[in-house]
Amino acid sequence: MMESDMVRVVVLAGELGYELSLEDAANRFGRLRGHRDYAFFVAIINEEVVGWIQVNRDTEALLLGPRADIAALVVDQRMRSSGIGKLLLKEAEAWARDQGLYEIRVRSSIRREGAHRFYLREGYCLLKTGHTFQKTLLP
Ligand SMILES: CC(C)(COP(=O)(O)OP(=O)(O)OC[C@H]1O[C@@H](n2cnc3c(N)ncnc32)[C@H](O)[C@@H]1OP(=O)(O)O)[C@@H](O)C(=O)NCCC(=O)NCCS
Repeated sequence: MMESDMVRVVVLAGELGYELSLEDAANRFGRLRGHRDYAFFVAIINEEVVGWIQVNRDTEALLLGPRADIAALVVDQRMRSSGIGKLLLKEAEAWARDQGLYEIRVRSSIRREGAHRFYLREGYCLLKTGHTFQKTLLP
């Protein structure tokens, strides 16, 4: 992924359900790129970004060893079911292996049934389901 991909990255993030401004996306990418714990890959067809993935080294915890985490994956809805998602996932898995990480996880909303079929087909197994809680902390 390069800074010049950001316009398309933001459009595809919208398909994933995240409304990002170009400025926010570019700023975050600028901070994270080049950091060894984060990797970003794009799929390009005819010079257009048609999919992207972010994979992270997950924060290590006392209860869990090191592993990789798919933070985002999306393929242009006009181009789905042609193997692009699989290629992006393989790239992320190869990155994880290169980092010495031999477990990879993805958290996926319960409503993304298509994505669940995709991960199961790619050899992922359902570990658990849960809720995510959030609280806004006032300054
Ligand atoms: C999940 C996703 C990345 C898969 O990408 P892809 O390029 O379609 O993947 P592939 O072509 O390698 O595999 C397609 C398979 O994924 C599954 N799939 C998931 N969502 C699908 C969709 N909206 N349309 C078609 N297939 C979908 C199907 O099992 C499909 O197999 P089939 O074509 O034999 O029916 C893509 O569908 C997508 O961007 N979905 C919306 C965003 C999303 O849910 N991301 C995952 C967040 S955890």
